[in-house]
Amino acid sequence: MLRAARDHARSIDLERIWGRIDATDTGSLPFAEHHGLAQSGREWISALELAGAPPPLPPPPGVTVVSLAERADLIGAAYDVYSECLPDMPSASPMRAEPFHEWVSQTLEGPAALPEGAMVALAGDAVIGQAALTLEGGEGTAEHLTCVRRDWRGRGVARALRSAQIAWAGQAGIERLVTSNDAPNAAMLAVNQRLGYQVVSEGVLVEGRAQRT
Ligand SMILES: CC(C)(COP(=O)(O)OP(=O)(O)OC[C@H]1O[C@@H](n2cnc3c(N)ncnc32)[C@H](O)[C@@H]1OP(=O)(O)O)[C@@H](O)C(=O)NCCC(=O)NCCS
Repeated sequence: MLRAARDHARSIDLERIWGRIDATDTGSLPFAEHHGLAQSGREWISALELAGAPPPLPPPPGVTVVSLAERADLIGAAYDVYSECLPDMPSASPMRAEPFHEWVSQTLEGPAALPEGAMVALAGDAVIGQAALTLEGGEGTAEHLTCVRRDWRGRGVARALRSAQIAWAGQAGIERLVTSNDAPNAAMLAVNQRLGYQVVSEGVLVEGRAQRT
């Protein structure tokens, strides 16, 4: 399967591949290393059980949070914030945003998309943060991806976005929210902790060339 995945990656001009392995899985890491994938980092998977979750926190002064399902006119600006933020996400290789149409299809239209739970933060008319929410592994669980424009960080915008998503998800019948964050992502981990998420597992990230040398 790994060989087939590598063949496919090369056929679409990808140079590198990566994967995540549960830190307690002692068999898969030697397998990955044997096949030329090296450890590239660690991540924490955190979860919030929505039964009994705290009520939403108000956004910081001057900021409002709305769902992209209500404000489709903001989709382009939300993507711009996502594109600005993705390279700032701590990771072994710099991340970059997929093309706009792919992002829309995965985040707002695909089978896992929850457009009502996709939130944007506004300062006046400007989108300063955006937070996607997609189904993860089953109907009852959804996963976050949160981005805040550089000049607005450290003011509680991510916390407000997540808080609005928690409130929406609770009403939508979702039972559990999960998020995976690279170990060095101190700001996001602090937001999770503040909102009551518990670390449920640790992942080892592996990465290597698509073409085995
Ligand atoms: C991660 C990110 C979304 C945070 O957005 P933000 O609006 O700055 O976050 P907030 O202001 O709501 O909260 C930041 C929290 O982190 C804390 N923090 C910031 N830097 C920190 C550090 N180096 N160490 C510890 N805590 C830190 C802040 O004190 C604050 O916690 P507090 O409210 O308890 O004081 C933003 O930095 C970003 O877009 N990064 C790039 C994309 C990314 O990594 N997304 C996460 C993947 S899901």
